[in-house]
Amino acid sequence: MGSARIEILDQGEFQAEEGELLLREALRNRIGFPYDCNSGGCGSCQFELVSGGVEDAWSAAPGLSERARSRGRRLACQSRVTGDCAIKVRLKPEFVPTHPPALHSARYEGCRPLTSDMAEYRFRCDGSADFLPGQYAMLRLPGVSGDRAYSMSNLPNADGLWTFIIKHISGGQGSGVLAEKIRPGDLIGLDGPYGLSFLRPDADHDIVCIGGGSGISPLKSICSAAVRHPPLDNRTIHLFYGARTPSDLPIDRTFREDPQLAERVTVVPAISEASHGTSWSGETGMIHEVLHRWLETVGDAKRFEYYFCGPPPMIDAVRRLLQIDLRVPETQLHADSFV
Ligand code: FES
Repeated sequence: MGSARIEILDQGEFQAEEGELLLREALRNRIGFPYDCNSGGCGSCQFELVSGGVEDAWSAAPGLSERARSRGRRLACQSRVTGDCAIKVRLKPEFVPTHPPALHSARYEGCRPLTSDMAEYRFRCDGSADFLPGQYAMLRLPGVSGDRAYSMSNLPNADGLWTFIIKHISGGQGSGVLAEKIRPGDLIGLDGPYGLSFLRPDADHDIVCIGGGSGISPLKSICSAAVRHPPLDNRTIHLFYGARTPSDLPIDRTFREDPQLAERVTVVPAISEASHGTSWSGETGMIHEVLHRWLETVGDAKRFEYYFCGPPPMIDAVRRLLQIDLRVPETQLHADSFV
């Protein structure tokens, strides 16, 4: 495979590897190409194909309507470069990556269970692990078609260690391979980092994190960075985490095990299944409801920086609450939309 010239009308050009995805090649070239999920679901990476061609990696991706497609629009995260082409898209400086993503070969080292269906998986790459706390990587797993997006749970480091907290989803291809098939020493592809839902250490607000499921992974990374960042010493940090039952909560082996997290982060766990709550004295209900009750007691919802990650219905409910009901500015909300 050779390299192709991609012209972005009125804004420049870059070289891309044929056979690779257009969005990832743009970001590797430090181009501020708008995106979000990297998985074909959100539509944020739409562009207009002016000349030349690309190949669809997923022609039925829900992020692009038939109408938009018939007008020449495509999804950059699902378009394979096949040769020179010209495109139209409005680049934005906030999407220029601090650490341009790269494809690594990653060796699986092992995992430690956190709950009956959640574990923290360790991978090692050559060179340092460069990313911002809260970002994600695309994992290329054996026997799985397409890459899977998982957020890092650790901090950037010089040792090339990348860890991910992942919940085993029944019938889920990616989490199934990780839970049942992968063995220490196996090699996988790790492409990253990606994502804009990372810790903003310069934001002048206290911190609130909200999560469910594997969403604990980036929130652990964000909180670990925040408690080790001296200028954030005077900020309060709250974590709201929802699970179905008490035994689904991964808090003991994540937030309570690390002395700095245990000391600085106020964790508010909640369970959603009341029938399991007989010996449970904590919060119950959906996590956005628990958050709402708490925000009513503290008064001003606009004095926090919010980071949230979890299943799409949780993300939608939290976003609706904060942005529409409580009018928190969008610049204070940080969430990735995986599909
Ligand atoms: Fe491409 Fe979401 S559809 S980034």
